Amino acid sequence: MSKLVHPHGGGGLKPLLAPVAERPADLARAKKLKQVPMTSRETSDVIMLAMGAYTPLEGFMGRADWHGVCAEMKTANGLFWPIPITLSATKELADQIKQGEEVALVDGEIGEIMATLAVAEKYAIDKDFENQNVYCTTDPKHPGVAKVNEQGPVNLAGAVRALSEGEYPTKYKDLYLRPAESRALFAEKGWSRIAAFQTRNPMHRSHEHLAKIAVEVTDGVFIHQVLGKLKAGDFPAEVRTQAIQAMIENYFVPGTVIQAGYPIEMRYAGPREALLHALIRQNFGCSHLIVGRDHAGVGDYYGPFDAQHIFETLWEGALETRPLKIDVTFFCKRCYGMATAKTCPHGKEEQINISGTKQREMLSKGEPIPPEFSRPEVVKILQAYYQSLK
Ligand code: ADX
Repeated sequence: MSKLVHPHGGGGLKPLLAPVAERPADLARAKKLKQVPMTSRETSDVIMLAMGAYTPLEGFMGRADWHGVCAEMKTANGLFWPIPITLSATKELADQIKQGEEVALVDGEIGEIMATLAVAEKYAIDKDFENQNVYCTTDPKHPGVAKVNEQGPVNLAGAVRALSEGEYPTKYKDLYLRPAESRALFAEKGWSRIAAFQTRNPMHRSHEHLAKIAVEVTDGVFIHQVLGKLKAGDFPAEVRTQAIQAMIENYFVPGTVIQAGYPIEMRYAGPREALLHALIRQNFGCSHLIVGRDHAGVGDYYGPFDAQHIFETLWEGALETRPLKIDVTFFCKRCYGMATAKTCPHGKEEQINISGTKQREMLSKGEPIPPEFSRPEVVKILQAYYQSLK
């Protein structure tokens, strides 16, 4: 009997990737179907479905699920789900597709066939309704809202059969763990209380402190970084991976953390995205998700702790994975170490506040990064990246 949290939805994991032996024939058939190009977000969602990270979804959501998820974080059959997982098409293309028809889903950037979709439904959505409910704003400057606004006007829904995980399994070899694989790894290590640390940044000292707080109170920490698309200016995955590895090798006890990555594309939906992050981590077998300051936020659309508070609004049984809520972490010059307002009695004037945004600014100006901010082994890697841009 597994001691890990259960996959979401009460059943087993549901990876939608077709068995290897069946893929060539499926692919040959898919080539003859109508081709539906996907945005990078939609492609990343197909890969999330393929690997089982979106268990128990069987494909892209229909109208009733879309509406329920936006309005009350529930699919039509009552399953907790905080952000719609949908696919869009142009009106011209949607008009040519009949209900019940099978189509091929194509990565719009490189033209690879990623999956087939049995189209069960075509529907139009109110984008402002989705944006207001999910992102708490309709401001087109919000990067998640902008992507919803750019979607085609018709959503296509139905069961997905994935035929590829793109370049992830080869490009990120050791980093690309599927939920079944992370669960097997945790079981092999005898871990049952696992905290996931979601990140899209190379780790600075605030991140290190958050992960170490979690190491103290769990069996181990799953440092789980976003490998999908980020916004302009964020570090590429290769640089982040190297920087995180340098941090782990130099500042963590061997065997207490695992670094891995997953193919989601950030939506920057703050509180709703924190819930999606927790749901996904439940599928990966993690009992906890670290939720710090402004988790998955952007600009000042969300309060610094909105992503923590939203977990209190969930109903009994919605989600097994719990948030590990941690206050703002900073370096205190008098404590001479990392702290939070719960552990440090000194004033703001003693604090060095650490943020990824500020660090990027300093790096781009060629300014030195103090050791209170980031570990020198990490800084070296980030500086080399900025040098390579010149
Ligand atoms: S993201 O999910 O929020 O987009 P990011 O890499 O920026 O990823 O942050 C990772 C985690 O660290 C999130 O839970 C975030 O809330 C937390 N975090 C980042 N900086 C701090 C900080 N200075 N104090 C507390 N939590 C922080």
